[in-house]
Amino acid sequence: MASRLTLSLALLLFGVIIGIVDARFVKDVHTSRRSALENGLGRTPQMGWNSWNHFQCNVNEQMIKETADALVSSGLASIGYKYVNIDDCWAELNRDSQGNLVPKASTFPSGMKNIADYIHSKGLLLGIYSDAGSYTCSKTMPGSLGHEDQDAKTFASWGVDYLKYDNCYNTGASPKERYAKMSKALLNSGRSIFFSMCEWGQEDPATWAPEIGNSWRTTGDIKDKWESLTSNADQNDRWATYARPGAWNDPDMLEIGNGGMTTDEYISHFSIWALVKAPLLIGCDVRSMSNETLAILSNKEVISVNQDPLGRQGRKIKKEGDLEVWAGPLSRGRTAVVLWNRGSSQSAINVAWSDLGLDPAKAFRARDLWAHSTSHSMRGQLTGVVGPHACKMYVLMPFN
Ligand code: GAL
Repeated sequence: MASRLTLSLALLLFGVIIGIVDARFVKDVHTSRRSALENGLGRTPQMGWNSWNHFQCNVNEQMIKETADALVSSGLASIGYKYVNIDDCWAELNRDSQGNLVPKASTFPSGMKNIADYIHSKGLLLGIYSDAGSYTCSKTMPGSLGHEDQDAKTFASWGVDYLKYDNCYNTGASPKERYAKMSKALLNSGRSIFFSMCEWGQEDPATWAPEIGNSWRTTGDIKDKWESLTSNADQNDRWATYARPGAWNDPDMLEIGNGGMTTDEYISHFSIWALVKAPLLIGCDVRSMSNETLAILSNKEVISVNQDPLGRQGRKIKKEGDLEVWAGPLSRGRTAVVLWNRGSSQSAINVAWSDLGLDPAKAFRARDLWAHSTSHSMRGQLTGVVGPHACKMYVLMPFN
């Protein structure tokens, strides 16, 4: 009798243990489904510059070198903007007789190895662009489809540190296959190369790209317009839970400094992109940017929200008409908050600790990241008066 009881208890205990193990296993499966490409890159969102938003196809080696110089002399490089990324239109339309990509003789006569050496000598990193199809989107150069290993080796031999991989002129095969091939080719190339996937969010890449890419576009191309910025922010927000260190949602590059939006709109652009852990890739001409543009791009407090080691994407947590609150957790028990007025008149925006998942009884101090001032300790809620198309950005810090 006693031994039967012992046996039942043992079985019960065994069942409980199995249950716990099972639950942990389910959790592990969940995590591994979302496991990042383990090339060690992009532990925080990538920062740098890209030629496309301002120059489109008008790229050449001199302006790339001048851009590298300007990133250094402006101080942007030293606060994290490391990648100098050449977008579309850098290669000849035809490969050489061995099938290798050839830099365009008229615009990149010194070749990419030379440019990489120059960029590395400045303490920066070089990014390049190709496409998971037979041509790139400009149709002025070949894509890498069917040439993945060869092109990845070429990029590695030039000293390239980053590949943006576009989706034009593909043959209709799933991007899951086409992008996975290049991911593998880069891993086998003998060089650490950041993999930036650009399939425009067509096949919900957040659900599969973290295993093969360091970032993936969640939207079509951004335009230098308010409506484009708000729309890209909203489309990107759907995928917030999929981002993590090494694997980021990408609502496209920055338009700050390109002239199509007001200063307040550009400040909203930078604040939201930082909060949602988007890549911070400058898209203006840094050789001739205004002091105002430089001031926005070099707000270190906002950048440190983007580069926070916790790596959790902030999201839209509250919306009343045009008045929105976006927020997310940071390391050391802090919380980043953006009060965003998308309407056309000045308004007060309020957020309660309970909206933020914080203990209503706890006191916090709010650091205003654009005014660079810190509040007294506050309980319960935070309110800001925010101008049209403007935002206020805070970090709430626990106060004992
Ligand atoms: C688009 C891409 C842009 C830019 C352009 C170049 O597909 O989304 O960011 O790279 O191609 O042609």
